[in-house]
Amino acid sequence: MEQLGFSFPSLMTKEEKPYERDGRKGSVHTSAKWLGTPLEELKRMPQCSPPLSHLRATDNHTVMIRTDLLREGEVLVPYPTRFKDTWDEANVKMPCSEKNLFPLENEVRARGVQSRWELIQKALKTEFKSAYDIKGAILKYNMAHTKRWDFSALNAFCNKVGRKAHRRFPIPLLKQKMNHSITMSQEQIACLLANAFFCTFPRRNSRKQEYANYPDIHLFRLFEGSSPKKIEKLKTLFCYFRRVTEKQPTGLVTFTRQSLTRFPEWESSAKQLTKLHITCEGTIEDQGYGMLQVDFANRMVGGGVTGNGLVQEEIRFMINPELIVARLFTEAMDNNECLVVTGTEQYSKYTGYAESYRWAGNHKDEIPRYDWQRKCTEIVAIDALKFKNFLDQFQPEKINRELNKAYCGFVRPGVRSDNLPAVATGNWGCGVFLGDSRLKALLQILVAAEVGRDVAYFTFGDADLMRDVHKMHSFLTERNVTVGTVYRLLMQYYSTVCEPCSSSRPDVSLYAFIYDCVCSSAASLDSDSAAARPDVPADFR
Ligand code: APR
Repeated sequence: MEQLGFSFPSLMTKEEKPYERDGRKGSVHTSAKWLGTPLEELKRMPQCSPPLSHLRATDNHTVMIRTDLLREGEVLVPYPTRFKDTWDEANVKMPCSEKNLFPLENEVRARGVQSRWELIQKALKTEFKSAYDIKGAILKYNMAHTKRWDFSALNAFCNKVGRKAHRRFPIPLLKQKMNHSITMSQEQIACLLANAFFCTFPRRNSRKQEYANYPDIHLFRLFEGSSPKKIEKLKTLFCYFRRVTEKQPTGLVTFTRQSLTRFPEWESSAKQLTKLHITCEGTIEDQGYGMLQVDFANRMVGGGVTGNGLVQEEIRFMINPELIVARLFTEAMDNNECLVVTGTEQYSKYTGYAESYRWAGNHKDEIPRYDWQRKCTEIVAIDALKFKNFLDQFQPEKINRELNKAYCGFVRPGVRSDNLPAVATGNWGCGVFLGDSRLKALLQILVAAEVGRDVAYFTFGDADLMRDVHKMHSFLTERNVTVGTVYRLLMQYYSTVCEPCSSSRPDVSLYAFIYDCVCSSAASLDSDSAAARPDVPADFR
């Protein structure tokens, strides 16, 4: 790490007392706010990352800048330099396309249509002195929505907004089944987000048309209503626009859609569990720097970020707004897909959560840039299943779906595990999506073991969960229980406890079941009784 010139602040808190026991360093926590492996022992980028090959466009990697001019700290030059107007199903339809036409106003309808881009430029060239001016400008080229769109939140909050934008490049849509990356500059992203703010993208005002399976990109829903959440979201966004207009960012960001067709045979996996640091303090984005950070996503990446949503995913998209541009070109994720975004910058601080979320000022993002002039922030969007009935999540097909979804997010085909940073995660699928946090923690620990990543798990204040998961992880690790064995126990749990269960909750918890099976099998390994016990999995008999 030293040769890279990076040094990260130590995370040892003042209450800790380092100790040495049978060769293992660790610390006794007087307040037991964390358990397991010390965070410092987990791998982070850039120190664990292998040097990347020189950035260049390939069949599955669209690069939007001149890679021959890529030098540290220098402003990036867009590529191609001239706009290639592609109005088709494979690329984003751009506002400046000649094919972006607009019916003429009534009095001259006889003459047909006009260029919508000319209308947009004319409308946005005017000086904005109030939210009313912004509303007037946006509706000039979105007349069909004059009655429907409500700007009261924008009226309640008015600040100077970003610089008007110019773009030149076709952006491929990251459609389902595609394995494709797009790398673009932070400046190009700012231009696209300015267009999202001014709602200029054709065909993106309603989900009824060709973009039905894509998230909303236009921000008009942020302007409506009187909820304080909208005001706080607008403050966060304007902080971003102000920052990127005052000082042009010089980094790159890569968006990679990963769509897998092959998954592990979970029941026959012989992998042992990897290291676990679990804590009830801190957050993925603060303490998980340099690690693979999980976005508890919606299948429409970004979820309710352009509307009312304000929990883990939306907050991350607000404080790292470059993530929002993924909504322009990322089709809804299928069960075997994820989106990985590397290089976004955090521009804002925040406090609170959901209704209590508050913008808390500028954030100076100290994360170093490493390969391809990208910040060492790798965020993976994986959407969990939503469960209405508690027991459904223990069904084998649901367990398989969640394991494979997390596997798609955590695996990096072709990358050696000692080059993989730890995964920083938490109660994925256990908030809005109503999943069981002990099950989801165990599933993510299994997947991390399968791909060879250590785990930093943030329980978001739940000390009991921290203790329970740490105890289970230690119990399984000390007995060298493999991923496959735990998987088989999960299947047994469903068939012997959940399936016959007539109430909404099982009378034996998953962890109690696992302890019982593993302990009783160990106790009776040399006696015939194990063979006679149907509830003890075959490989424990
Ligand atoms: N770091 C660590 N853990 C967090 C953080 C954070 N910054 N923020 C929240 N958590 C924990 C909380 O305990 C929360 O209840 O993660 C839990 C799950 O968060 P949710 O956002 O509710 O995730 P999920 O249940 O997967 O719901 C996903 O919510 O944000 C939308 O677009 C998203 O539609 C999707 C749904």
